[in-house]
Amino acid sequence: MIFSRAFSFVSLLTVFLTFTFVAANPITFTEPRSDISFGKRQSNADIQSILTDLQSQVGGILPQIDALVSGGNASDDTVTPLINQLTSALNDSASSLSGLSSSSSSKRQSNDDIANLVAGIITDITNSLDGLLGQAASIPTLGALLSGVDISLNQVLVGLETLLAGVLNLVATLLVDVAGLLRSLAFGLTLASLGL
Ligand SMILES: *[C@@H]1O[C@H](CO)[C@@H](O)[C@H](O)[C@H]1NC(C)=O
Ligand SMILES: *[C@@H]1O[C@H](CO)[C@@H](O)[C@H](O)[C@H]1NC(C)=O
Repeated sequence: MIFSRAFSFVSLLTVFLTFTFVAANPITFTEPRSDISFGKRQSNADIQSILTDLQSQVGGILPQIDALVSGGNASDDTVTPLINQLTSALNDSASSLSGLSSSSSSKRQSNDDIANLVAGIITDITNSLDGLLGQAASIPTLGALLSGVDISLNQVLVGLETLLAGVLNLVATLLVDVAGLLRSLAFGLTLASLGL
């Protein structure tokens, strides 16, 4: 009885001290952390700006592909230059990403933002390219063109994962509905990197 009272007093004291410690120390704990995350936020901002740039280039190319599809004008001659612009935009982003140094970890919030951005870009690309599948008969080199997009897109994804380990898991959860279209496009490298 006495022992158990003594024990519960010690437990109470421990709980009290733990609370006091936690309550008294947030400032000393968070200050060094916020210094570190400031550096990481900068690095995430670099990644974000590369991706925003990619998004805007892609946003200029895809509507032209959509127009070819809806006009029934898709052919090797019309599609090839646009797909080359797309792969070249992806290649540029991949090489910009590889120029950044990786941070050991980063803020959850900005990883979510980056994952959303990437998932949006992949979804847009996938939807437009999927339109071309309907006119594959008039685009004999379509398979080769799509495989080039897959290679370049995958390089972007690999570059991202190198900088922000785990980010592709977040991207993949946002692309569950798009996975079927990625399969139709035979984007094997992209699917493998995303684990879809
Ligand atoms: C698509 O083809 C039609 C004729 O089939 C032509 O009138 C139209 O200008 C073409 N559009 C483009 C964007 O090339
Ligand atoms: C993109 O990169 C791939 C692989 O590095 C290369 O084979 C391809 O020619 C490049 N395409 C363009 C348009 O830059």
